[in-house]
Amino acid sequence: MSRIKRFALAMAFVGTGAFTVSAALAAPNSGEALYSQYCAMCHGKDGKGAMPGTTDLGQANGPLSQSDTVVIERTLKGYKTMPAMDGQISRSQAQEILAYMRKAFNVPAGNSQK
Ligand code: HEC
Repeated sequence: MSRIKRFALAMAFVGTGAFTVSAALAAPNSGEALYSQYCAMCHGKDGKGAMPGTTDLGQANGPLSQSDTVVIERTLKGYKTMPAMDGQISRSQAQEILAYMRKAFNVPAGNSQK
């Protein structure tokens, strides 16, 4: 193997390692950590809203009473004044956030079928 090839291989290895570490730091995996990183600045820690115009996520018949599919779609693609989050979080992260919100704000799916 040429020196250049060996160097390139070593760099690729280092590069992959650095990516893994920074990706792990930038994307925590618990629903709670994800919620505080990506949602709480607008929705508040308690889901009631930290800025005007957000819907209270803790209402029994509010947004979280919709099906998982609807809530996840609206989280990823945006809804009215809610920005699309799919550039920042993956679908599985949206699922973890939803599971956390249902527990923390005590709203099971399917109270209403809006
Ligand atoms: C920049 C501020 C902002 C951020 C960040 C944000 N939201 Fe929102 N969200 C809003 C606003 C504003 C609304 C109200 C939309 C409307 O009805 O006009 C909303 C509405 C919602 C709704 C209700 C949709 C419906 O069916 O009525 C859900 C669910 C939601 N957000 C989840 C999330 C989650 C989960 C995150 C984090 C991944 C998040 N939001 C991040 C501002 C934000």
